[in-house]
Order: sequence, then structure tokens, then C-alpha cells
Amino acid sequence: MKQDDRAIGIFDSGLGGLTILKEVHALLPRENLIYFGDTAHVPYGSKSKETVTEYSLNIARFLESKKVKLIIIACNTASALALSAVKKHTKAPVLGVISPGAKCAVNKNKGGKVAVLGTEATVKSKAYVKEIAKLDKKTEVKQYACPLFVPVIEEGILNGELLDLVINKYLAPLKKMKPAAVILGCTHYPVIKKHISRILGGKTLLVDSAEETAKEAKKLLTEKGLLKQNGKGKIEIYASDSPARFSKLAVNIIGGKKPKVKENRFYI
Ligand code: DGL
Repeated sequence: MKQDDRAIGIFDSGLGGLTILKEVHALLPRENLIYFGDTAHVPYGSKSKETVTEYSLNIARFLESKKVKLIIIACNTASALALSAVKKHTKAPVLGVISPGAKCAVNKNKGGKVAVLGTEATVKSKAYVKEIAKLDKKTEVKQYACPLFVPVIEEGILNGELLDLVINKYLAPLKKMKPAAVILGCTHYPVIKKHISRILGGKTLLVDSAEETAKEAKKLLTEKGLLKQNGKGKIEIYASDSPARFSKLAVNIIGGKKPKVKENRFYI
């Protein structure tokens, strides 16, 4: 059978995309993965479309220099603002996380209201609202920006009083809305999923794009005959700043031993 050893490139502004990497690795354990966390520029969520597009194109170029066979934009903000630009400027196929997340929410939600939690930029782009409308016009969707979640997670504050305070602040309007499903519209948010669920009362369906994105990656590679069929996949991680810090915090998401993280300041 045909064998393609080239890696899948995955990127995010920081740690959040590791929630996608974890799922891709679980579903496609033979695949080599190259991850880039843009820690020099995190957070993306409060930046303009122009800036996020420039960062994303630079990272895509770096990943292409590594000869990747697929690029996954494991960041909702970059998917919302820069997916079409990255697709236009790269040879490798490109997947974003918004459409898989919306699909998952529409499939799992039985016609109830949907709340989207995301960064300021993702909310402003209305990317989820548009994507859900394409799949199901009747679903009522409300969006809520949660700008403090990313810095809190990047600081490694993953439980305790301060985290609860921040979650309570952002979820207060949801208590009135009573959504049937809540989309974690930022790849960082699954890291604090259990606390979001607890504060919502445990019954609300929480949806994130990780599983669906991994499935779409598998489908695309299968259709194009690009799967790696043998051996164990290697994971290579880069950060644009503070690789030791990134490695320490990455363990909270991918588990196991502290991964080796290489610094790559190629475009700062
Ligand atoms: N993980 C990114 C996302 O999914 C975080 C954005 C940020 O850096 O603000 O939107």
C-alpha cells in the first residue's frame, strides 16, 4: 500500500492547539506531527484580521518548509480570520476547526439553543453563526467573548478560585439563556472543560472541534491516498518563545513526560 511519511503540520497561538494534536494522534497514531505554538504572539483573539493573517501565513510557510502533507489550523481565531488566505498561499491542503466544531454541535444538539464561547475576534467574525446557519437555519445561536480564558490557561491556572471567578463571570449570561449546547469555540477551552461543565450545572452538552477535526483529517488523507500506514508517529513541537515554559505547561494537555520543545523565532 502507498505510504506517505510526511508530517501533518498543526498550529495555534499557544497551547490550545495541543487539544487538537492529542485527538489527531489518538486517531492517527502512525502519523508524524509537527506542532507550532506561537507563544511570542499569543493571544491572537484580541488582534486584527490583518495581524492574525500575517502570523498564520508565516507559520504555514514554516510548516511547508518542513514538507508537511496537511496543515491543520488548530486555532478558532486563525481559522475564522485567516483560513482562506492560508488556503490560497499554500500548496498543502488546509483544514480549519470552525466547520468541524459547527458540524459536531448541529449533529449532537437536538434543536435547542446553542451558545458559542470564543475569543473576541472569533465572536466578531460570526464564523460559527454563519457555519451553523449553513447546516441548520433554525438553530438559535448566541455568542459570548471570553477574553480572559486564554491568558489564564497560558499561565497554567487550571483550577482554583481565580479560574472559577473568571468562568462565573463569562457564564453568568448563559444561565439566563439556558442553551442546550455550548460550543467551546477556542481550542484552549477544552483544557478547562470540566470546570465550565461544573459551573454550568453539569447537564449542558459541551462541544469542541477536536474529535471532528481529527476525523476530517483522516478522511482527507484517506481520500488523497496520503496516509502513513506503518510505524509509530513522531511528534515534533516548536514554540516561537519560551520553549521550556511551553513544555512544562504542555504536559497538562497531552500528559506523559515533558515533551522536547524547540525554539523557533524565525519570524519575530
Ligand atoms: N486557541 C486559539 C483559538 O482557538 C486561541 C486564540 C488566542 O490566542 O487568543 O481561538
